[in-house]
Amino acid sequence: MKKRDKVITVAIDSPAAAGAGTQAKLIAKEYNLLYLDTGKIYRYIGKLKLENKKFNYKIVKEKINNLKLKDLNKINLLSDNIAKSASVIARDKKIRKIVTQFQKNCAYNPAKRFSGSVLDGRDITSVIMKDAMIKLYITASLEVRAKRRFLEFKKFGKKLSYNMVLKSLRNRDNLDKNRTYSPLKKTKDSILINTTKLSKKACFYKIKSIIDKKLKFNGIL
Ligand code: C5P
Repeated sequence: MKKRDKVITVAIDSPAAAGAGTQAKLIAKEYNLLYLDTGKIYRYIGKLKLENKKFNYKIVKEKINNLKLKDLNKINLLSDNIAKSASVIARDKKIRKIVTQFQKNCAYNPAKRFSGSVLDGRDITSVIMKDAMIKLYITASLEVRAKRRFLEFKKFGKKLSYNMVLKSLRNRDNLDKNRTYSPLKKTKDSILINTTKLSKKACFYKIKSIIDKKLKFNGIL
């Protein structure tokens, strides 16, 4: 695959609801990067599976090949059912292969108006952007993640109890960490950020100092 020259690349992995998306958006804004929430693509396929009796690799391939990032933002992919379905289809080697190409292209060939890219997901540091300039593993305790997700659901009027959210996250953690292909793990070269006791702002300052240091070292800043 062709790669654009001199792009800033930030790769983030994290379990669900650890705050990676929030931080990735802040990073994208600060450094003028394209942001791709890779979970959305798995959720999109998970939704396809839930809504179509006919579901096969050909359909997935066709949909992903014609997918525009803008369109992805228009679909509501927040529900817990879609998240569960995403975690199930994400175990499939062939589905991951179809998605990988799309994601690598976003990572290494962002539109010219961007200075680079930031992707978050489960296999970004280990598979999609192995040679990223900055690699982060963002995590938080299961309880804190469940509380954050519970409040998010509540805000959107979804009636899920805290315990249901906790159970669902635990279940998804297990599926994502223990699957055969591209399991979620912290790579040795990723910096660990634990957001359990950190505010969004404090977390961002920590990440910003890591990125600034790296960019200075690379002569970019
Ligand atoms: O991040 P999010 O919760 O939206 O991801 C939904 C699901 O998609 C995850 O639980 C995981 O199974 C899958 N996923 C993945 N690889 C990624 C991103 C998400 O397998 N890079």
